[in-house]
Amino acid sequence: MSRVPIRYGARPCSLVVCRGCCCGDPRKNPGTDHAAQLDRLRAAAAASGGKLAVRTSDCLGPCAQANIVVIQPSTEGRRRGGRAAWIGFSLDDDCLDDILAWTEAGGPGLAPPPATLALQMIDPPKN
Ligand code: FES
Repeated sequence: MSRVPIRYGARPCSLVVCRGCCCGDPRKNPGTDHAAQLDRLRAAAAASGGKLAVRTSDCLGPCAQANIVVIQPSTEGRRRGGRAAWIGFSLDDDCLDDILAWTEAGGPGLAPPPATLALQMIDPPKN
């Protein structure tokens, strides 16, 4: 059995779930159970053994494409060239399935995104 070295200070793949003025607002997207969505992502993080982290954020900018979820690479994923992926219109279970499948596979830099999720990638706002 091979041992996986523990890398202190290494950050896991993480999800930044926008919950600003529009993302998570049932008046903007009434067909989505926004609280259940966040619960599901947090439960996945809790069950990941430290491989996935989830946090919420105030408005990230592209409100017209709410709900926004940003998938940030792990330290190893970033080392291998992975960059944050901005996902727009994250409104249904299929989208969350794809997000969690990708993060389970390693996320940006370590695995290709599901093809259907790639269609939902948006450009990050320019500062
Ligand atoms: S509230 Fe999410 S992008 Fe503005």
